[in-house]
Amino acid sequence: MADISSRPIPRHVAIIMDGNGRWAASRGLPRVAGHREGAKSVRRTIEAAIGQGVQYLTLFAFSSENWARPAEEVADLTFLMKHYLRSELGELHEQGVRLVVIGERERFGPNLAEELAKAEAKTAGNDRLVLIMALSYGGRADIVSAARKAIAAGIAPEALTEQSFTHLLSTDGIPDPDLLIRTSGEKRISNFLLWQLAYAELLFSPVLWPDFGAADFAAALEEYATRERRFGARPV
Ligand code: IPE
Ligand code: IPE
Ligand code: MG
Repeated sequence: MADISSRPIPRHVAIIMDGNGRWAASRGLPRVAGHREGAKSVRRTIEAAIGQGVQYLTLFAFSSENWARPAEEVADLTFLMKHYLRSELGELHEQGVRLVVIGERERFGPNLAEELAKAEAKTAGNDRLVLIMALSYGGRADIVSAARKAIAAGIAPEALTEQSFTHLLSTDGIPDPDLLIRTSGEKRISNFLLWQLAYAELLFSPVLWPDFGAADFAAALEEYATRERRFGARPV
């Protein structure tokens, strides 16, 4: 058997959870049924990440552009996020998960935004897994927001470096993702973590998000372990 003890484990895995609508459509169900089923995959994936020793897990749950969906679907997704938070927070806390939310949470209304802030505060001391939920998140908006902060702080142009700019992004303090997984066979970034994914290994899985489970997560980590990361340097 291969020695898995020395296998490189990605410290940070980011996932574009895609394919809920197609999962539902293939069963003749409304899209919301796919989103509901997708929430179960979230739970499975968090457990798998903890089991595999991953330290940071970022989940793209709602993009800046998803506001363009029909109001009914946006309402369903908002309801499900609230429901998920209420039903899962206790267990996440017990498992040692620290929740961090990135994106424009205020757009979901003051109630959800406040509940998210409380959940972050409650779990702030946990260190088994940092779970970063990207809600109403857009990579371009993140970069523009960082640029605005730099201007507002009066930073001199020559003082702005990649390093200092990184601290102005919503992901300040979180290492860049090592592995990006996108489910459902789509092969694009869809305005996810544009800056942070600069050197991530990309993995596109054909599995629809509601079907994604621990075995798929493990297979993704196996694939990651075979990748040679160079960061632009010449391999020795
Ligand atoms: C991902 O599933 C969930 C969100 C984007 C909120 P989709 O709803 O995009 O499902 P497909 O891509 O239409 O199958
Ligand atoms: C990306 O999926 C956003 C999330 C998974 C939250 P979309 O389904 O919105 O992306 P496109 O429209 O196919 O690029
Ligand atoms: Mg989609």
